[in-house]
Amino acid sequence: MRIVVLVSGTGSNLQAVIDAVQAGRLDVEIAAVGADRPGTHGVERSAAAGIPTFVVDFKAYPDRAAWNAALTDAVATYSPDVVVSSGFMRIVSADFINAFGGKYLNTHPALLPAFPGAHGVRDALAYGVKVTGCTVHWADAGVDTGPIIAQEAVAVGEGETEESLHERIKVVERRLLVSTLASLAAAHTPA
Ligand code: GRF
Repeated sequence: MRIVVLVSGTGSNLQAVIDAVQAGRLDVEIAAVGADRPGTHGVERSAAAGIPTFVVDFKAYPDRAAWNAALTDAVATYSPDVVVSSGFMRIVSADFINAFGGKYLNTHPALLPAFPGAHGVRDALAYGVKVTGCTVHWADAGVDTGPIIAQEAVAVGEGETEESLHERIKVVERRLLVSTLASLAAAHTPA
């Protein structure tokens, strides 16, 4: 199963996928890693691991539609079976998702459909929930919507900050992303 991973920042979830592949625990080919801005740590990690990288800089395009079209072309170069949004902080169009047969996987640091959006951890903490967690799902063109594949709960501790809670969620999120990709790869039959 060939995947292209999209990142916007640190790329620690991506690193977990790279580590699992390198350790022989995950049978997927990371065909490329792409970002929506230059200088992300996620792209640096990939280059260090010898994985092809590309940047489709959101700010270099006149509008969202032009950026979406360029992103679609860049990803299509690698003919992925699945595109993974791993901390990719941009909404893509339905055209993008359709171009890849709807196989657009997203991870989110909350128990969807609760607390979608860019601040899922902050919003859960502000609401005062005692349990939150993470979700891996097939994404549609909405904000963190689409069929849920896997979820895992994380209890909120006393005096927790957004940073401490997000770090603990990400430990679980990395494992959940790798195990979900392993299940998809096991079920995948090459075209
Ligand atoms: C993850 O929690 C992801 O779900 C969220 O941003 C975080 C990205 O972390 N959207 P990283 O870049 O993989 O370290």
